[in-house]
Amino acid sequence: MAVAKRTYVVAVTGASGALYARRLCGVLAKAKGVRVHLLMSEAGARVAREELGVSVDLADGASVMRGLIGEVPRNFRYERLEDIGASFASGTYVVDAMVVIPCSMGTLGRIASGTGATLIERGADVQLKERRNLILVVRETPLSLIAIENMARVARAGACVLPAMPGYYHLPKTVEEVVDFVVGKVLVQMGEKQGQIRRRVARGEPDGQ
Ligand SMILES: Cc1cc2nc3c(=O)[nH]c(=O)nc-3n(C[C@H](O)[C@H](O)[C@H](O)COP(=O)(O)O)c2cc1C
Repeated sequence: MAVAKRTYVVAVTGASGALYARRLCGVLAKAKGVRVHLLMSEAGARVAREELGVSVDLADGASVMRGLIGEVPRNFRYERLEDIGASFASGTYVVDAMVVIPCSMGTLGRIASGTGATLIERGADVQLKERRNLILVVRETPLSLIAIENMARVARAGACVLPAMPGYYHLPKTVEEVVDFVVGKVLVQMGEKQGQIRRRVARGEPDGQ
């Protein structure tokens, strides 16, 4: 991987909204000075297959990246869920932001409980204990009290709960513009304030990427 100024972890789990993960990864694949560790849960792979119509084999990182992004970006590194010895499973490896997108209620609950059983749970736990940026793009409706309490719990621990809850005041005409609204919010929380998507969405321009 090339020398990077900012290091991110992107974890894709089994909530509906694989398009959000595809768009975020597509933007980060083109971003300069960015390194991305990519993770996907079993359920995340299933939803990606169903919602994106792609074939994804979790044992083969290239197939995950091709299925999700359409390419194997040089600044991406695929991490296996069971590799709890990966670099960012330790707090000494600095991750600027970890994004779980989309984030299922199951993953939310496990992060809220601090189980640390998979690399997604461990990575999130490390971000919280190191007081670093953790962004959970949760999606479910309606919400049970358990889910609401789990969100409150992770928010108290320092996570940013960013529901996949698009606005419509920019008058989107396509699904891509709806997706960009949410991904633009994620990019801002990551510190990617110059995110192209956000500028385009703010100007009400069509998606050109
Ligand atoms: C097509 C499909 C859509 C789903 N959508 C959601 C959802 O929006 N939110 C959610 O919390 N779970 C959703 N689920 C259920 C989760 O995938 C399931 O709870 C899974 O165990 C989550 O595992 P993970 O957290 O390890 O990814 C969906 C499942 C499928 C197959």
